[in-house]
Amino acid sequence: MQEFINKTLYTKEIQTHLSNVSELLSKAIYDCSSKTCGFIDDSIFSDAKMLRPSILLHSALRIGSVSNNHILFATAIELIHTASLLHDDVLDSSNYRRSKETLNSLHNDKIALIVGDFLISKAYSILEKIDNHNLQCAVTRSIEDMCRGELLQGSLLGNFTITERQYYEIINLKTAKLFSLSASGAAIINSDMSQLQQSIDFGYNFGMAYQIYDDIMDLCGANANKSNAMDIANSVITLPVIHAIKSKESNKNNVILAYKDEDAGKILEILKESGSIAYAKDVADNFLSQAINS
Ligand code: FPP
Ligand code: MG
Repeated sequence: MQEFINKTLYTKEIQTHLSNVSELLSKAIYDCSSKTCGFIDDSIFSDAKMLRPSILLHSALRIGSVSNNHILFATAIELIHTASLLHDDVLDSSNYRRSKETLNSLHNDKIALIVGDFLISKAYSILEKIDNHNLQCAVTRSIEDMCRGELLQGSLLGNFTITERQYYEIINLKTAKLFSLSASGAAIINSDMSQLQQSIDFGYNFGMAYQIYDDIMDLCGANANKSNAMDIANSVITLPVIHAIKSKESNKNNVILAYKDEDAGKILEILKESGSIAYAKDVADNFLSQAINS
């Protein structure tokens, strides 16, 4: 995944356009920056991977060239993504993201939620400038889907009968849909339908792979990083755990007990012994291959 991102997405050409996106991001948060209310400053984007804008700009290049509207849309997408992480950290009670303290930890949940709302409103201000009805509808649908994904996940917390199918539905809604929008945004802006389905497929497969790797890392990096093991702490049940429970009857009770004790070491031991980490990696690799094919 990382190799694909570094070699294929973060090309020199994309980096040049990304610096324009960064400039617009700084402008967008000016009202709420350290100069005014002091809750956020540019550093909120400083360690952003800019993956969704990169995908968008990459697909713009594939169907032609990067226009001002593509730069604007890439900025809007990054604002929405950042907002979703601020809200997600509240939902997950996460104190760290990428080894940095989260806004809910630095201030409180209320501030993090309002700053997230502020970023979404800024994204819509940018969309007004693009003035493309189809694009605005697609953005609204994606945000709805992300909320649906979080709600579905919330309804299945601590439910060890969750199926693989339900898990895929959750990660499609909460993660893959925004990647699909990023990949297809350039085609929507250009009204070029020739590669629309292909770009939607790319975003879906890439997003599914991305979230499965993220879920594996949450379990595997548990001792190495303060941002990990949050899924155990929050009773979120992800693919490796679903596989382990399904593969051996006795795993179920052991996993339930270990979740209760938040014993990440024990859970990892069960997952490795059942080949569940390897299984989840295979599934993610398969989604990534399909993304590359698209
Ligand atoms: C990360 O999941 C979270 C998401 C991909 C989506 C979050 C969406 C919402 C909170 C709905 C509201 C949406 C908006 C736009 C405000 P994770 O917790 O598995 O990943 P992590 O390891 O990065 O925390
Ligand atoms: Mg989270």
